[in-house]
Parts: sequence; structure tokens; C-alpha cells
Amino acid sequence: MSEVLFEARGVHKSFGDLHVLKGVDLKVKKHEVVTLIGPSGSGKSTLLRCMNLLETPDEGELLWQGETLGYRAMTPAQINGHRARTGMVFQHFNLFPHRRAIENVMEGPVTVKGVSKAKARETAFQLLDRVGLADKAEAWPAQLSGGQKQRVAIARALAMKPDVLLLDEVTSALDVELIAGINELLADLASEGMTMVVVTHDINFAKRASNRVCFMDEGRIVERGLTEQVIDNPQAERAREFMAALTG
Ligand SMILES: Nc1ncnc2c1ncn2[C@@H]1O[C@H](COP(=O)(O)OP(=O)(O)O)[C@@H](O)[C@H]1O
Ligand SMILES: [Mg+2]
Repeated sequence: MSEVLFEARGVHKSFGDLHVLKGVDLKVKKHEVVTLIGPSGSGKSTLLRCMNLLETPDEGELLWQGETLGYRAMTPAQINGHRARTGMVFQHFNLFPHRRAIENVMEGPVTVKGVSKAKARETAFQLLDRVGLADKAEAWPAQLSGGQKQRVAIARALAMKPDVLLLDEVTSALDVELIAGINELLADLASEGMTMVVVTHDINFAKRASNRVCFMDEGRIVERGLTEQVIDNPQAERAREFMAALTG
């Protein structure tokens, strides 16, 4: 059995009176792609944000390679270090609008890791090339299509040399003809061994690229298993209804 890279145990998170995560357990092994699927509002984004420490869990443990993260007592530098190894990519890209594509990719290595600008630029260019945007390095975000912006955002996450990518509905804001290209890129990264947790409603992508699927409902993972099993033959009633609606 391969090594567990990252684990959430009994994670709870509330916003005021709203209890969003109600004890989530999730193990992610090295080189594995785990898809998180479930209705809007079930807590998928909150779970990824807790794993990345964009949110602080109220309760529960996060373990990195078997070691408990003392997330309540971490310094800002330790939190940044954790965010660097758990690269997050968002639905709405979140690029800096006043920075060129390549500057967006360089930003993290320069400011968080102290990499020289020259070295960061060289690496950023290689990454933009890797995501198919070598010719757009000097473009402003406003000059890029949604698909191109998302490629920049993926390159920006990769620039931090993450051990796992946390991808939150990264194709949901894209025109349909741009989705396949991003899915292709993610599937390539997965086949190169990148560990990923992918929130998506894209059943075809999940089937193609993921090893395991977790179905979330109302703050809990109510079903988990191998991809084909959970998507084609879910046992939990809520999962059955959801998959039936998604697959039409
Ligand atoms: N920062 C926040 N403040 C208040 N409520 C939030 C916040 N983030 C998420 N929520 C609420 O938590 C619930 C779960 O949200 P989310 O994790 O985004 O679900 P999903 O990604 O599955 O759609 C929703 O009801 C949402 O409105
Ligand atoms: Mg969400």
C-alpha cells in the first residue's frame, strides 16, 4: 500500500451558526487522484480550504505524512510553507490583474520562497510552456481567455512545487470548448504522478483521471470508494439521486 501523504481526521468547521463540516475524514495517498463530488453547499470548498489552511478547522486533525499539523499554533511562515506544498487552484482563477501572466507565476516563489527574480522567471517560463502558454508569458490577465487564465493559475500553483494540488471546480467557469483542454492538462499531470484532490461535477473527467471518489453531502463524506463504484453504483441514497441527476 502506498504512503498516505495527507489526511484529515474528524474535521469540523462552522461559520457562525452554520455547521459546514461535520467530522470529515479523508486520506490522500501519494500519486493518487481523489475526486470530491456532491451538491452545492455540501462543504467541498470549505474542506479544501481547511486542508490548505485558508480556513482554520474548529476541530479535528490534519496530518501530513503521518505527522499532526499543529494548525492552531503555526507561524505565518509555517502556514505559507503548508500552502506552498498544497497548491490550490480556484474556479475563478484569482490572478493578479495588474501583473503579467509570467509575473503571476513568479510571485509565490519570489515572495514566499525567496527565489531570485531571474530564477523564478526562468522556471515560470518553463511552466507556462508546460501548460501551453509560452507565447502568452507577457500577456495581462485581461487579454487571456478563461481557459488561458486557468492555465496560468495552474502554472502558478505548480511554481511552488506542491506535493498535492487542490483543485476547486477549476473548469466550472469555463466555456464548454475550453474545458477539455484543461481536463487534458490535469490528466497529464496526474499521469506524471501529481497527487490531486479534485472537486468537480465532471463525471467523465472523474472517471478518466481519478482513482477514488468521495461523495459529500451536508458536511460529511457519505460514500467513498473506487471511482467506477461510487459513480456507477452508489449505495447511499443521496449519492444515487445526485449521480442520476448528473448523468441524466
Ligand atoms: N466564509 C464563509 N462564511 C460564511 N459561510 C460560508 C463561508 N464559506 C462557506 N460558507 C457556507 O458554507 C456552506 C458550504 O459552502 P462550500 O464549502 O462553499 O460548499 P460547496 O463547495 O460544496 O458548494 C455554504 O452554505 C456556504 O454558504
Ligand atoms: Mg465550492
